[in-house]
Amino acid sequence: MSTLRNLAEEHTRLRPADIDHLHRIAGDWQLLSDLSFADLLLWVPVDGDGAFLCVAQVRPTTAPTAYLDDQVGRMVGGPEVAHLEVAHRQGRIWREGDPVWYGDVPARHEAIPVRLRTIDGEAGEVIAVVGRDTNLSTARTPSQLELNYLTTADDLAQMIADGTFPPPRHPGETTSAPRVGDGLVRLDAGGKVTYASPNAQSAYRRLGYASHLVGEDLAALHRRLASDPLEGTDAANGILAALRGEAPPRREIDARGATMLTRALPLMPAGVPIGALVLVRDITEVRRRDRALITKDATIREIHHRVKNNLQTVAALLRLQARRVSMPEARVALEESVRRVASIALVHETLSMSSDEAVEFDGIVDRVASAATEVAATEATVGMRREGSFGVLPAEVATSLVMVLNELLLNAVEHGFPPETETSAGPTGPAAPAPGTPAPAAAESPARPAPEVVLSAHRFRKMLHVSVTDNGRGLPPDFDAERGGNLGLQIVRALVTGELRGTIELRDGAKGGTEATLVVPLVRNAPEGRPG
Ligand SMILES: Nc1ncnc2c1ncn2[C@@H]1O[C@H](COP(=O)(O)OP(=O)(O)OP(=O)(O)O)[C@@H](O)[C@H]1O
Ligand SMILES: [Mg+2]
Repeated sequence: MSTLRNLAEEHTRLRPADIDHLHRIAGDWQLLSDLSFADLLLWVPVDGDGAFLCVAQVRPTTAPTAYLDDQVGRMVGGPEVAHLEVAHRQGRIWREGDPVWYGDVPARHEAIPVRLRTIDGEAGEVIAVVGRDTNLSTARTPSQLELNYLTTADDLAQMIADGTFPPPRHPGETTSAPRVGDGLVRLDAGGKVTYASPNAQSAYRRLGYASHLVGEDLAALHRRLASDPLEGTDAANGILAALRGEAPPRREIDARGATMLTRALPLMPAGVPIGALVLVRDITEVRRRDRALITKDATIREIHHRVKNNLQTVAALLRLQARRVSMPEARVALEESVRRVASIALVHETLSMSSDEAVEFDGIVDRVASAATEVAATEATVGMRREGSFGVLPAEVATSLVMVLNELLLNAVEHGFPPETETSAGPTGPAAPAPGTPAPAAAESPARPAPEVVLSAHRFRKMLHVSVTDNGRGLPPDFDAERGGNLGLQIVRALVTGELRGTIELRDGAKGGTEATLVVPLVRNAPEGRPG
């Protein structure tokens, strides 16, 4: 599918500034299409051969289209585009002529030249033509609304030919502009309402204004209605600016718990300010939802904060109990539980500080890893290193993964480098290295590398690959890698195959030691409702 820019660059000699202007038109012309009850086609003259190329198209939301099929990319020459040629060459709006038939749809053709003003504000050259084509099959005697729309459309069409429509954009306007169907008010040069569409009338009623708008001074009305006087003055100034021929940014007016978005546009065909067009939309519901979302966000964070506090309390209770029991085995078990609970608390702590249900995992895992080295019962300091990054993980993955890694890291430290090892040269008592120094190479035995655990993580094709590798003494010879292990590895397997839907493998490392590898999918294949 070719874009406006591609088509124009490929087939015409339009300059970048011209193409930018065509983009602005295509960004704002739904308004003209809706007011005209007509399809708009943007035609650019093709280099040399008198043909025109359609580079953009918009259908009216207020009337049936004249074109059921897409016109963009169509190149036409000869009599069919004679009216475009007139508008292009003579620089005037062309509207004579008899209806044309598209299959069984009768259509009226009009052609509006598109001018780009020079930087000094002079009327520049005609760079393109807007075809305005009305499906006549449903045409009937126009209503008051339709007449008002059509008059305003003609003013805007003239402004396209003058190069004063569309007005410059205001940066940072994110909400979509109000449309014709949302509510339209037309003002005369004095700022009095000459027409208000039924939807506009209803929008003002929500703000607390129940009478008819026609004849009202709209700037004064906005000032009166707004609950906040500053906002009222601002809204009034916007209207006054449009009446002077400027295009003010969109404004919101709050009154009586309702919110209305307004967009004021100057009307100045042939350079004469004759009034303004004000589009309004009731956005009360949108704003209410915004506010609700912000509150929900804060509530979720508060819940994570409380869960973290509760987990820390549980950890403290277990720690207290561990200190009281005399049986060493029971004490070790309780201390392990303290660490398990504390590692989950870390995830909730992180979630309570972020605004979404996802966490930057590296920070969490680094804290868990350094806690694991602290509990090492070895004399030698076990080095801990992370390679690669986990990136941002969804909360539910993070909670399970932190438990799994906690167990694997503890195992690597505890079992990879046990306090007194059968493989070491002898009792190490006084020869134990000071913390921070690498293990000494015993003179008579080959140099042993410093105890180290490496945690590596990388993402590949929506999968998270993690490994925990130690250069310790390796798995026991009779170890059953599939099923073996105590509570620690049972937790690991249950979480990896259950919550995480991944795989885990435990094997002897390539250069001694033990290697645990973990693969976890990061996209959920089945869309699931989140519990709670
Ligand atoms: N990195 C490792 N190096 C050497 N042996 C390991 C390693 N990881 C696990 N093992 C062996 O696997 C066994 C089971 O580990 P598991 O974590 O299930 O239980 P545990 O660590 O003994 O006790 P806990 O339930 O408190 O974790 C360990 O006792 C140990 O023998
Ligand atoms: Mg263990």
